[in-house]
Amino acid sequence: MAAGQRGQSPLPPVFRKSHVMNHFLDIHTTDPAALRVMIDQAQAMKTARNGRGHAAPDDEQPLAGKMVALIFEKPSTRTRVSFDVGVRQMGGQTMVLSGSEMQLGHGETIADTARVLSRYVDLIMIRTFEESVLQELAEFASVPVINGLTNRTHPCQIMADVLTFEEHRGPIAGRKVVWSGDGNNVCASFLQAAGQFGFDFTFTGPPPLDPEADFIRFARERGSDVQIVRDPMEAVQGADLVVTDTWVSMHDSQSTKERRHNQLRPYQVNERLMAAAKPDALFMHCLPAHREDEVTNAVMDGPQSVIFDEAENRLHAQKAVMRWCLGV
Ligand code: CP
Repeated sequence: MAAGQRGQSPLPPVFRKSHVMNHFLDIHTTDPAALRVMIDQAQAMKTARNGRGHAAPDDEQPLAGKMVALIFEKPSTRTRVSFDVGVRQMGGQTMVLSGSEMQLGHGETIADTARVLSRYVDLIMIRTFEESVLQELAEFASVPVINGLTNRTHPCQIMADVLTFEEHRGPIAGRKVVWSGDGNNVCASFLQAAGQFGFDFTFTGPPPLDPEADFIRFARERGSDVQIVRDPMEAVQGADLVVTDTWVSMHDSQSTKERRHNQLRPYQVNERLMAAAKPDALFMHCLPAHREDEVTNAVMDGPQSVIFDEAENRLHAQKAVMRWCLGV
């Protein structure tokens, strides 16, 4: 019997709806084996693109016929551009939506927004404030939802960071990662990744800005050696990777700026701090950075810095995340 007759789809394969629907909401809620598959696939896709222009399509077009909605309730450069480019490289199309211009920002419920968008698009990526918005969207959407950052976590960033570390230094399992500064949403996802990828994690920062206890508990329960060390010079001893981030995140009140700067100044990543880590330690920052605040120019632009590889790897890691979400 020919395709298109009784019980069979008349549509070419690329337009058939995938039966796989994996949400990518957080590192700790994603199976570690799946995380490993995504990292390895990201590396393979990156290698396969070697030497092509950014606009060149991939040989494989797994997102052909797919529409992806990218919703932003906060500013973004890397997340916005890397998702948009990644979808296009894989043959799909995007629409970038600002939360404030949608009915979502004017009283329509998240549940109704999720149900409506699911009738139009194949995948939703959202950057929002409260984690509850992401969770409700995922609960009511009948298409996969990706966390593009909330106040609590930033899993796509950490997928890129793991990919970047392994590209430069091999397996991250068993290595020591040190976070210096504010225990923010990126730090939280790093802690979750410590548990899932099997690396050790030391936080150094002032007590009011410690990461949430839940994140620390998760990593420890999964066997990661998690330490909180107040002296940054002591914390970075033996570090394979030193990471920091902005001292005032997008959801933090600007009124806290002066206090935070005073609290966090001792945790600036500078050449002296990097010199106390392993000689081949890498430096990462998810960007945007505030040069000469949380990190000096000398470190940002120095030989241990892999910040622009990190930014590029958002693209490759998220392509693998999208493929996993859709099962394509
Ligand atoms: N690191 C990161 O998420 O960058 P954007 O805020 O520019 O997306």
